[in-house]
Amino acid sequence: MARAVALGIDIGGSGIKGAPVDLKTGEFLQPRLKIATPAKSTPQAVAKIVGQIADEFTDDLPTDAPIGITIPGVVQHGIVRTAANIDKSWIGAEGEKIFSDTIGRTCLLVNDADAAGVAEQRYGAAKGKQGLVILTTLGTGIGIALLHNGILIPNCEMGHIELAGHDAETRAASSAKDREELSYEEWATKRLQPYYSALENLLWPDLFVVGGGVSRKHEKFLPLLKIRTPIVPATLENKAGIVGAAALAAD
Ligand code: BGC
Repeated sequence: MARAVALGIDIGGSGIKGAPVDLKTGEFLQPRLKIATPAKSTPQAVAKIVGQIADEFTDDLPTDAPIGITIPGVVQHGIVRTAANIDKSWIGAEGEKIFSDTIGRTCLLVNDADAAGVAEQRYGAAKGKQGLVILTTLGTGIGIALLHNGILIPNCEMGHIELAGHDAETRAASSAKDREELSYEEWATKRLQPYYSALENLLWPDLFVVGGGVSRKHEKFLPLLKIRTPIVPATLENKAGIVGAAALAAD
């Protein structure tokens, strides 16, 4: 049976954030702690901060409370396989072992979008939704989580499909909107439209959930998309990674 409390830690480009999570509600049991991501975010430098965050909370948690950690890359059996927007030294790193050794307790390491997708499916915008749910996070990169009848199919990297001859995330992520100073309308019609059309034609989902910081402004771009799949904003905002990592660690 799933345990009631777990620690979630979310490693992002600007901050490493953690909080203990009530797994019944998906709420934080204590305010989140955030420490800036080191400029050179090697596994060792990141592990030091993850250790600090864990130390802050583990005293207040049961000794067997699960710990889940996210990383913005593919994670296969504890090993980080890709690093599109993080330090390249992560590729091939035994991430799960490094964090478990630092914290002194077994941890689960998962892809950041997978964690966010699980959180939205269990507690957020896709709660109770059957069929194929696709969470897309629009940020520095594009993260994808695929869930079928609530079951996660991990490490879907369709943020990197080819779009007009480019890696899709370099055209359609919100970082592309900022970098190229696109208006919401330009971004939605020229970049998101072909991207979501391609995804729905390849995967035929029942629901798209759109996360990432820019989803707070969803009314400026989601209504402009002409797709057949229902598309809704994520509801857990920047809590999703922490909550999903905690939930997956407890499974
Ligand atoms: C990575 C994914 C990650 C996404 C969001 C992409 O560049 O390849 O693994 O989920 O960014 O951080």
